[in-house]
Amino acid sequence: MNMLNLTINNKQITVPEGTTILEAAGTAGIIIPTLCFHKRLNPIGSCRMCVVDIEGCSEPMASCTTPVTKDIIVTTDSDRLFRIRQESLKLILVNHPLDCPICDKGGECKLQDLVYEFGIKKVPYKTNGVLRNTDYATPLIRHWAQRCIMCIRCVSACREIKGLGAIDVIDNGYDSQISPVNKDKCESCGECLSVCPTGAITENLSRYKGRPWMVDRVKTTCTYCGCGCQLELNVMDNRVIAVTTTEDRGTNKGSLCVKGRFGYEFIGSEQRLQTPLIKENGKFREASWSEALTLVADRFSKIKNESGPDALAGLSSARCTNEENYLFQKFIRAVIGTNNVDHCARL
Ligand code: FES
Repeated sequence: MNMLNLTINNKQITVPEGTTILEAAGTAGIIIPTLCFHKRLNPIGSCRMCVVDIEGCSEPMASCTTPVTKDIIVTTDSDRLFRIRQESLKLILVNHPLDCPICDKGGECKLQDLVYEFGIKKVPYKTNGVLRNTDYATPLIRHWAQRCIMCIRCVSACREIKGLGAIDVIDNGYDSQISPVNKDKCESCGECLSVCPTGAITENLSRYKGRPWMVDRVKTTCTYCGCGCQLELNVMDNRVIAVTTTEDRGTNKGSLCVKGRFGYEFIGSEQRLQTPLIKENGKFREASWSEALTLVADRFSKIKNESGPDALAGLSSARCTNEENYLFQKFIRAVIGTNNVDHCARL
């Protein structure tokens, strides 16, 4: 692998060829502000927050899209760069309503944090607002088109991470907007909302239930299948009000399917079974675990004695752990004595 030397803020750094300036800075612990950059996506280069000065270049360059070249000398921090970044934020805010008090993203909005960090007190520019459609919404996902800063992260995530391409940019220049160009491909997985740095794409289930700082984020493993996706249950007053993810945990790296991200309301459902039920005369009645398990054992034994073990079969569940499924097949094979065992994931 070809290695390249460069200097960033007077620090000597060596990186493999193909590394961007942003990545090179990261290896040296130098933080460059970003907004459209997302480490799981190809660089987009739409926000210009990551601009840096390169000796010999008259204009600042976007560090997320500029690869390192031999012996370049880079500056990431100066009064000029600060003002350019401030100006970029002001231009982004021209088309972004300042509705933070009613925005679900308040408290964990990257744009809000940057505006605060760069000390922007007001937006000096005014323009005719872009009229954007909102038909990207699904029953689970809400698209606040006017809050969109056209960073294009959602489009990239839908295409590059999920391989769906359900949404894309339509129209040109100032009038461009995000649109569901392949709406039938949308799985409501929420990948778009998980990468959205503002409140332009939010979810419907958790609205007005709790702000980010009001919840405990309990790390756990999704129970819907055997992939073991890592997620965080957002818990408030002992109720799960949302599911979030972090990019650094698990093989899913922050991605979830529609069930993992939105299928949490069953946890607090009043209709959940609390005890085993035994059916008698066509009607269920509540029973203790001991009574239910004794009944099952008696019936299994009766069937096995009368018709042999192959008259029984076991169907296991993808929602159990590997260990539970291993024990289940062991029970069916070694205790019941049949190989009639299967798993719902094969249906
Ligand atoms: S982070 Fe580089 S242009 Fe947006």
